[in-house]
Amino acid sequence: MLSLCFSFWLQNRAIGLIQTMALSGAHKNRGELRIHESLDELRTDLADYVAELSEASVKERGVFAIALSGGSLIGLMGKLCEAPYNKTVDWAKWYIFWADERVVAKSHADSNYKLAKDGLLSKVPIVPSHVHSINDSVSAEEAADDYEFAIRQLVKTRVVSVSEISDCPKFDLILLGLGPDGHVASLFPNHPALNEREEWITFITDSPKPPPERITFTLPVINSASNVAVVVTGESKAESVHLAIDDIGADCPLIPARMVQPAMGKLVWFLDKLAASKLEDSNLNK
Ligand code: 6PG
Repeated sequence: MLSLCFSFWLQNRAIGLIQTMALSGAHKNRGELRIHESLDELRTDLADYVAELSEASVKERGVFAIALSGGSLIGLMGKLCEAPYNKTVDWAKWYIFWADERVVAKSHADSNYKLAKDGLLSKVPIVPSHVHSINDSVSAEEAADDYEFAIRQLVKTRVVSVSEISDCPKFDLILLGLGPDGHVASLFPNHPALNEREEWITFITDSPKPPPERITFTLPVINSASNVAVVVTGESKAESVHLAIDDIGADCPLIPARMVQPAMGKLVWFLDKLAASKLEDSNLNK
């Protein structure tokens, strides 16, 4: 399965690097692009990727601190509930967080916690006390403060590691989706939350994507992770993928996804062909 994906990655990486170098300074390392022929291929590659990072993190730190997003991501992670992963992954060492959450009851259909629990966490032997969701009985602002406080306690005990270059938490893996407008987590285009540099968790009450009240990791936290993966499928996302990855001019909108730039960590894009269809290298579409 990886032969197609890997040879493409190698080819693209080589091209990308040359482009990057040729246009050096135009944009920095936009990470590894993994473009898949089919959703099934993407789902398998994503499960392999997460399982490998889990194994490496447990070996190194004894735990695996992973942050999830909402939307189609959870469905695309579905193979982790199947063989061999459901047996081979060391689920008891997982600590689960949310890169963003809607401020609704955990039982509400809009809850990212509920989405993940129903679609993944209830199907694998996760330790319930290792699941760190938001306090759903308080306001968005209080939920953000409360969640940051909870994460700070877990940084003290090194369940969540700490960045070498800031006091930010260093999650082992942050999984993000991408909106058609270029938003990641609940960081929307031109929103003041994008400028937050002190708080680890912030809140918004005017999300353009319903529901309006949300909490979200801030950019410093996202960019302090050891690994960040952006998982994107479908043609509706092709323009935001182009704006997030390609060498775009200064007059192009700076979308939130473009601000995902891990300082020391690794960035990987899991794309299907439709989502990748507007990437510069037009030969990708052939
Ligand atoms: C949320 C998500 C959000 C999501 C994108 C992509 O809570 O709404 O975390 O950031 O990842 O909107 O969603 P889709 O993959 O479903 O298009």
